[in-house]
Amino acid sequence: MLVNRTASKAIGESLDIVNAIPSTSKFSIRGTDDYSELVNSTVVVIAASTETYLTDRTENMASQVTMIKEIAKNIQRYCPSTIVLLISNPLDVLTYFFQKESRFSRYKVIGVASSLDASRFRYFISEKFSVPQISIADALVLGEHGDSMVPVFSRCFVDGTPLLSMLDNDERDLIIDAVRNYWKTLRNYKSRSQFGIAKNSYDVIDAIISKKEISVPASVVLDGEYGETNVSMGVPVKINQNGIIEIQKIELDKFEQNSLKISAHTIRINIQSV
Ligand code: LAC
Repeated sequence: MLVNRTASKAIGESLDIVNAIPSTSKFSIRGTDDYSELVNSTVVVIAASTETYLTDRTENMASQVTMIKEIAKNIQRYCPSTIVLLISNPLDVLTYFFQKESRFSRYKVIGVASSLDASRFRYFISEKFSVPQISIADALVLGEHGDSMVPVFSRCFVDGTPLLSMLDNDERDLIIDAVRNYWKTLRNYKSRSQFGIAKNSYDVIDAIISKKEISVPASVVLDGEYGETNVSMGVPVKINQNGIIEIQKIELDKFEQNSLKISAHTIRINIQSV
């Protein structure tokens, strides 16, 4: 079910996408502006935006938060047992407000973005060392889906070699900047990212509807994990058909621990500013 505040937009997109449904499929697609058609949904993905942002994901934050609170009320009313994936920005702030407004368990509200950032981190490593991505293990990114995000070098290996032993601090900082500014670079060439976020959202949806278990970094409201409360940010989580089943505690080096604290603080300031 594609829901949009403008029915014609949802209907138009569904009439196009429906032609991609294989003849072997049991699925179909419909467009609507009526939230009541979401009743009994297993998964709801929120990609809504009041308008586009140009230089920072936190632009339009106030209108985005107002919008997400309205959406939360509708989801709570029509599919209170669903699992919700957010991909709208500012991702961590909206994940936080959706969970608070809907009063859903925090384990049922998943912000999909850090896994996208991790795929970008992995891409830059593969490019720098001219290795295929399969050679790169545990390229994690945590924290804000924004300028303070934290690529985790200390746990990453390239063909079994610790990544940190392959880089000096300047090279590490260049990769951090490249990952943090990836979307700004991309926007110089096309209007917005689409395929990366779609694939990373698909991975989570597939785990839920196919009853698989995956471990990815994702934004979740924290209640003491990593020493943080009253914030939603990217941390390693395990997901299955019931949503988040574990917030995984991993060891970080001092640089990463400090960067993650700064990132949590950045998100909290944004949350408090609304
Ligand atoms: C990006 C958007 C999805 O990082 O926030 O491309």
